Amino acid sequence: MTRTLGLGLAGAGRFGAFLAAAVADLPGLQVQAVADPDQARATELAAAHGATATTTWQDLLADDRVDVVAVVTPPHLHAEVTIGALTAGKHVLAEKPVATTVADAREVAATAATSGRQLVVDHVLRYNPLLQALVTLQTELLGPVQRFAFENDASDEHLPPDHWFWDEATSGGIFLEHGVHFFDAAHLLIGTAPRAVSATAAHRADGTTDLVSATALHPGGVLATHTHGFSHADRCERQAWRLDHGTAEVRVEGWIPLRARVEAWTDDAGAETAYGLPGRAAALFEVPGHRLGPGSGITAVVHRDAGAPAARGRGRDLVLPHRVILELVLGDDGAKLRVYAESVRAAAADLVSAAAGGPPVRSGPAQALAATTVADAARRAAAEGRQIRPDLRNVTDHRPTPLETR
Ligand SMILES: NC(=O)c1ccc[n+]([C@@H]2O[C@H](COP(=O)([O-])OP(=O)(O)OC[C@H]3O[C@@H](n4cnc5c(N)ncnc54)[C@H](O)[C@@H]3O)[C@@H](O)[C@H]2O)c1
Repeated sequence: MTRTLGLGLAGAGRFGAFLAAAVADLPGLQVQAVADPDQARATELAAAHGATATTTWQDLLADDRVDVVAVVTPPHLHAEVTIGALTAGKHVLAEKPVATTVADAREVAATAATSGRQLVVDHVLRYNPLLQALVTLQTELLGPVQRFAFENDASDEHLPPDHWFWDEATSGGIFLEHGVHFFDAAHLLIGTAPRAVSATAAHRADGTTDLVSATALHPGGVLATHTHGFSHADRCERQAWRLDHGTAEVRVEGWIPLRARVEAWTDDAGAETAYGLPGRAAALFEVPGHRLGPGSGITAVVHRDAGAPAARGRGRDLVLPHRVILELVLGDDGAKLRVYAESVRAAAADLVSAAAGGPPVRSGPAQALAATTVADAARRAAAEGRQIRPDLRNVTDHRPTPLETR
């Protein structure tokens, strides 16, 4: 049994409180200290977790009880606090974006590489069981993603005009503050970072940017579109993902994915795979630290010989007699906060495991640098009205795209 690591939170706002609650019962981690210049917030959150409160994050670095710093400040401070904590010998669980500039993201990655400490960046989608299952199913049934689309009609109900979210110098802008989640998820699902990005921003009458859209061209002719608008009431929020695999389509509901419907045309081997999926749901959904809730599972319906076997697509001969319908479910609409919290818990579990010598983290400096680089390219593309080729120096594709090698 490895020793319990002490956690110090830099930032006791909305998400700091959510994160502290999400990791509260994670073995191997214990909240010890909370730092926030807003003393009342720090004191309240610290009291809720039996921890001590302070007003400056530097105090966490000098605190021997703190082994891990969680960086939950507004984005413009992430790089500075992360670099400070790594340099002081702390592990770091950093909120996204890891930095608001590519130069800072590179500096974070370089510091992490030489620090001997672990850095997990809280790209919660990497710890979502449903997306992980879809990655596995690519090799078993779906084939590679040919087109990716994410539509995000998000809420601004808790984002008054003076919120730091709207100030690009503080938040990095929508592509960096929120878009990084989905540039990173596209990287996970497609397997590569895009080589070219174009983008458009739309503004309110007062000039505030509240709607952005990017089109990203990945190797192998894979096109990804990312649209994010922040103008809805909470109850009117809607998100939709669509993954086109050529012979299969996946539709995912929720920005925190809760359900996915797969429609695939396949051959005999694919049909056999589909029959076996419900019995393998727990294994396909496994993300260490993420506990599945009631109602989670996979259903499969196979319509055998639903069409003539021979077909053609993308200039290739195909054999696709069987039609498969899959439903992947983590819970109903009410499960969003539970799945969200479990994903944050899994990110923290990843850090604790890596700090004890376990496997490399799923969402570390490499993934964060890639997402930040693409998000920054989208920001610049919208501002400059031209296509940008992201500077992918120091960015590696996470796995080769089969389309590319064909
Ligand atoms: N991973 C996710 O899904 C997710 C979701 C929501 C928010 N976030 C991220 O979490 C971070 C915080 O967001 P929030 O919604 O909690 O914002 P918030 O404004 O509610 O809280 C930020 C807190 O940071 C404090 N702070 C400011 N300067 C500080 C400093 N120098 N040292 C310590 N604390 C300082 C503020 O006083 C405030 O209490 C943001 O970076 C945001 O992008 C991530």
